[in-house]
Amino acid sequence: MPSQHNSNYASLFIGIDTKVPLLDGSQSRYVNLDNAASTPPLKSAKEAVENFLPYYSSVHRGHGYKSQLSTHVYETAREALLKFVNADPDEHICIFGKNTTDAVNKLAHRFPFSDQRNIVIVSGMEHHSNDLPWRGIAKTIHVALTHDGRLDEADFDSQLNHNASRIALVALTGASNVTGFINPVHRLAEKTHAVGAKIFIDSAQLAPHRKVDVRPLDDPGHFDFVAVSGHKMYAPFGTGALIGRRDIFERGIPDQKGGGTVEIVTLRDVVWAAPPDRDEAGSPNTVGAVATAAAVQQLDTIGLDNIAKHEAELTKYALERLVQVPGVKIFGNADPNEAQNRLGVIPFMVDGISHFKVAAILGYEFGIGVRSGCFCAHPYILHLLQITHEESQRVREKMLSGDKTDMPGLIRASFGLYNTRNDVDALVESLYRIVKGDYQGIYMQDESTGEFKPRGWAPDFDHYFSIS
Ligand code: ALA
Repeated sequence: MPSQHNSNYASLFIGIDTKVPLLDGSQSRYVNLDNAASTPPLKSAKEAVENFLPYYSSVHRGHGYKSQLSTHVYETAREALLKFVNADPDEHICIFGKNTTDAVNKLAHRFPFSDQRNIVIVSGMEHHSNDLPWRGIAKTIHVALTHDGRLDEADFDSQLNHNASRIALVALTGASNVTGFINPVHRLAEKTHAVGAKIFIDSAQLAPHRKVDVRPLDDPGHFDFVAVSGHKMYAPFGTGALIGRRDIFERGIPDQKGGGTVEIVTLRDVVWAAPPDRDEAGSPNTVGAVATAAAVQQLDTIGLDNIAKHEAELTKYALERLVQVPGVKIFGNADPNEAQNRLGVIPFMVDGISHFKVAAILGYEFGIGVRSGCFCAHPYILHLLQITHEESQRVREKMLSGDKTDMPGLIRASFGLYNTRNDVDALVESLYRIVKGDYQGIYMQDESTGEFKPRGWAPDFDHYFSIS
């Protein structure tokens, strides 16, 4: 029997015991194993928002007490984000935006590429948000991957040295949203700086699980830019942040122009504001910034080392159990003894059953939330599944004709700090039943999405929540 083990972190969160309806009409505690996509809210983030709302007012544009307080709170939230990643406010600024995707797009438009240095090095393991924004703006080179999906550091070195004088930026994920592999980011930063380029670390996945350390600019292993998302750090209030070099954002024209970005405007010219205001057009999401700041402070209070330890223990346990389920194949690193070196993000497939169908049965019949498919990282999934060019072309044609039933993909279980062994047990026991065919629904696949739904399923969402 698996041992019982309860993390004491669950009480810090909202919604961990929420019950959801199952296909058989019963209700079950929702087991959220989709934290790599979005995380549930910390109570402290919600409380910070509730305490702030009575004082909420305009930021950077009012003389009233509430406006001044709101401006102060917003600027304090920036400081909290900078502190969270060990950034020195003299060297780095915090630009709030919607999320990591927004941050990468901003950096892509604001980075000072030159005719001489116009290459961005990314990798084959990036999610689309740290790949597509670079394409078309700069020459984009994808570093190769090892067979199991790690960054091939020999290829990184080779690309770096081959193109040394032309590389403007290295843009890599801190950790994969698919396999949980963690990149040796400070070592890669040292190599990047040695060729005179700058480095951006997409920390959307890393920051909720490991300490992100920007380091001073005179440290060769420093990061020039990082991005984080509130909704992946237990603050789902619509904010993310780009933390980047002050000297870069002191220059250039904002990618989005409007109120708040200027010092002086005449009909003839514009004097842009100093950073970070130059890069935050329009009224900011102050509530989101408050929530995100409260969340990262809580993560620091718990301690990223404690979080990493708890999640590694959980990941080890999950890998040990999952590998025993007949027909389950784990991708990336399946070794439980190396769980401390990766994130608790486990991609797998079940022999002979579509990833869409497994995810559907887990949700409809067992109340377990996982994601399946390509996780906004199509090239990485093609690599992990070793799909040939011919096969990918065949599926592509089929998908473009409106039929996604053959779309490749995996199932992903991803842990947050509140998950427990009970959650792993729920997943594993459910998978044992699925592989035995011990489920009740008759599942129909929707050709246009590839997703499965059980016949007769009619959810009553309004019973659980309605805006009106
Ligand atoms: N990158 C997010 C995920 O992995 C969207 O689900």
